Parts: sequence; structure tokens; C-alpha cells
Amino acid sequence: MARLAGRKILITGGASGIGRATAVLCAREGASVAVLDRSAEAANTVAAGIGGKAFMVDVADPASVNAAVEQAAAAMGGLDGVVNAAGIFSSEGLTDTTPELFNRILTVNVTGTFLVIQAAERFLRAADSATIVNIGSGVGLKPTGPGSTAYVASKGGVIAMTRVLAMELAPKIRVNVVCPGMVDTAMTESFIRNNQGEIRPEIARLYALGRAASAEELANAILFLTSAESSFVTGIALPVDGGRTYHCRTRPPRDFRGQDPCAVLLILGRAARTDGSRHPARGARHARL
Ligand SMILES: NC(=O)c1ccc[n+]([C@@H]2O[C@H](COP(=O)([O-])OP(=O)(O)OC[C@H]3O[C@@H](n4cnc5c(N)ncnc54)[C@H](O)[C@@H]3O)[C@@H](O)[C@H]2O)c1
Repeated sequence: MARLAGRKILITGGASGIGRATAVLCAREGASVAVLDRSAEAANTVAAGIGGKAFMVDVADPASVNAAVEQAAAAMGGLDGVVNAAGIFSSEGLTDTTPELFNRILTVNVTGTFLVIQAAERFLRAADSATIVNIGSGVGLKPTGPGSTAYVASKGGVIAMTRVLAMELAPKIRVNVVCPGMVDTAMTESFIRNNQGEIRPEIARLYALGRAASAEELANAILFLTSAESSFVTGIALPVDGGRTYHCRTRPPRDFRGQDPCAVLLILGRAARTDGSRHPARGARHARL
């Protein structure tokens, strides 16, 4: 029996990476899936491939979220589950994080998650055994070194918000957060591989399992928390991080320029952002997820 037979699942960020893998898996498990993303074209492609429906949304914009959630619920005849996988990344540390950048990362990652849940709440309350799965990050549980100030703050916020909403929405709606380590997606593509196209060894060694995750491995954890198999699980932050949480030493501040295998990287001479904005020339030299 399919694990999500007859369920109606809305997935933000469903056009790429973890969200896309989750959309494909949920559809394979029998769910109707609404793929919401700021990229309408990519969302359409994913939805077409799984027999789902696509909706353009900017999760940072309350009007856009309300319209897209309403349309998705109307198209599917309700909502049983929400997966908040839309998110953006920046590697800048304190010095290089402008107030605008900080606000942008917090607005998409934290406010966006909040807005989608708020818009979906009445539909989820009308469902049986409804679920919300947010995507945090291992660094939101335990930063492993300096840098990515706004991103780490945003993921800590998503984790804390998940815990309070698990209490606020119980017993009707279960709310959990998955906390990935490094995952091989568009978000990490600018720094995860070396010139040979292999996962950088300095990244792989951060993980007890010696590698980065695939998006499909994250989707499996999200499926568990979306399905009835996790029916007595709410309020948890589930690391899906190849053992990094225990494998990694916590580093003292500012000790990241040496040989630290845990201050994740990337002294690559370039930094990363995934919101499409230009990175300042003297950007941070390290990035963590
Ligand atoms: N890739 C990793 O290593 C990693 C690690 C930890 C946590 N995460 C988190 O997992 C989630 C998914 O990341 P991913 O790796 O699949 O990234 P991704 O870049 O492949 O996918 C993110 C998706 O979110 C969409 N998106 C971004 N901003 C949006 C907005 N304002 N409105 C609507 N859609 C928007 C993008 O268009 C994209 O389709 C993110 O929250 C990310 O922070 C990723």
C-alpha cells in the first residue's frame, strides 16, 4: 500500500533539489502534489513529470503565499500536508553581512516558512492527521564554525518555530523539522565539487559516513515525517547529516583559517549565495550548510 495514498501535499521549493525529490517521492507514494516555487517554469516541469499541479509563489510575499496556498488547496480539494523546502543560502560572516542581506535571508527562510504555515493552517485543521515538515539545517542545531551568520540564524529560527508550532497546533497537526548536512543540490553546486567533478574530500570528511547526501535521502526522511509511520512524532528536529552532529568537533571562534576539517570549508576564494544577488568581491571564504 502506498504510504501517502489519497493525501494532498503542498511543497514549497518543489522545483529543485530537496523539494523536487520530495515531490517525486510523495507522488510515487500515492499523494496529489502541489509544487510551489518562485520559478514557475521549473515548477511546471516537475509537476508535469509527476501528474501534479504547479503554482508560482514568492514565499517572502504574504499576498503571493496566500494566493498560491489557496489555489493549491482548491485545486487538490484540501491539504493534508505541507513541506517547506523553499530556502536561500549565503556564506557571509558577520563583517560582510549587510542588514539588507540579513533581512533577505531571514525573510525567505523564516518568514516564508511562517507565512506558508499560517496560510495553510485552516486547510490542515480540516484534514485528518495533518503534517508540516520544515527544512532547517544541521548548523541551525549546532554551528560548526564561523560564517554564514544570517543563514545559521535563519535555520535556528526555523527549528525554534517548529518546536513552538508543534505545541500550538497539537493535537490536530504534527510539526517537525528535518536538519540536513551537506546535500548535493543547486544550492551547493558552486562549492561542493572539485575540478574533477567529485565531492571535495574536505567536505566529505566532515561526515562520519564520508560523503554528502543526495536530495533523495532527504526526501525519504521527509516522507517518514509526512506519513502515518511517524504518527506519534511531533516537535522533533531530525538531523539527516551522515553523522556530522557527533562526528564534528565544535571549533573555537575565528579558528577557521587553519586545517579545521569542521569549520566547513571553504577557503576557496569565493563564497556562495543562492538568492541571485551579487556577492561582494571581498566576500567570506567559507560556507557552511
Ligand atoms: N543543499 C544543502 O546542502 C542543504 C543543507 C541544509 C539545509 N538545506 C535547506 O534545504 C532547503 C532546500 O534546499 P535545496 O538544497 O534543495 O536548494 P535548491 O536551491 O536546490 O532549492 C531551493 C528551491 O527554493 C526555491 N526558492 C527560493 N527562494 C524562494 C522564494 N522566495 N519563494 C519561492 N521559492 C523559492 C528555489 O527556486 C528552489 O527551487 C533549503 O531550505 C535549504 O536551506 C539545504
